[in-house]
Amino acid sequence: MTRAIDTLMWAAIFLLIAIVLVFAGIRVGTDGPLIVTGTAAEGDSFEWRYVTYPWLAYLHIVPGVLYLVGAPLQLWRRFRERHFTVHRRFGRVLLSLGLVSGVFALAFGVPFSYGGAWQSLAAAVFGSWFLIALLLAFRAIRGGDVRMHRRWMIRAFAVGLGVGMIRVWVGILAGTQLLPLEESFAPAFWIGLSMHVLAGEAWLWWRPNEDGLPRGAVVVHP
Ligand code: HEM
Repeated sequence: MTRAIDTLMWAAIFLLIAIVLVFAGIRVGTDGPLIVTGTAAEGDSFEWRYVTYPWLAYLHIVPGVLYLVGAPLQLWRRFRERHFTVHRRFGRVLLSLGLVSGVFALAFGVPFSYGGAWQSLAAAVFGSWFLIALLLAFRAIRGGDVRMHRRWMIRAFAVGLGVGMIRVWVGILAGTQLLPLEESFAPAFWIGLSMHVLAGEAWLWWRPNEDGLPRGAVVVHP
């Protein structure tokens, strides 16, 4: 049962990362030619903000994608156990990438949201939570507290992964024509990211300690 849940969890992680990669690819494919040639995007188009403020947008997207792709390796217990020095060094790189992406999620996402004030608020709340979780994870490990380091890193990753879930909800809300695309963004941000904060907490409730074993598991030493 535990193994089946682990397999499902990893499958969900890779699926959500794949979704984020697809949307990041669409962004680069759409914005890239306009940015490189200095062509202005149409004022009411989705890409207008990305093309007009490329530094803010891409200092969020590029480090975020690298963080999201690298983080599963850090969360994989066997990799940590076998390559602890690499885990530490790579961890510093990923932490920096996550912090840069989080700061620019606020700098770009709050003032230039597609879906209006409620989306800006969601970006401010969950972007701050992402940054706080990363900083507390760093502080914990500096103080030698592996248990809290793991807990805060899982919280940060859960929110980062929630970016894929936002796209799923935009697909559900706008794809079924329940809401127009622009109006689907704010609810998709709140629903998708709240789901991921709660999923992170549920995971930590079930597996509270740094050994990653389920609550109440009995370890039999030979
Ligand atoms: C750490 C991993 C993250 C990655 C890989 C990532 C990736 C992306 C991508 C690819 C876009 C472009 C969206 C599109 O064209 O559909 C985007 C936009 C955005 N991201 Fe992130 N992001 C991450 C974390 C966050 C976090 C933690 C927040 C804060 C809640 C956030 C807030 C935003 C906002 C507000 C936008 C603008 C959406 C719009 O167009 O209105 N991101 N991100």
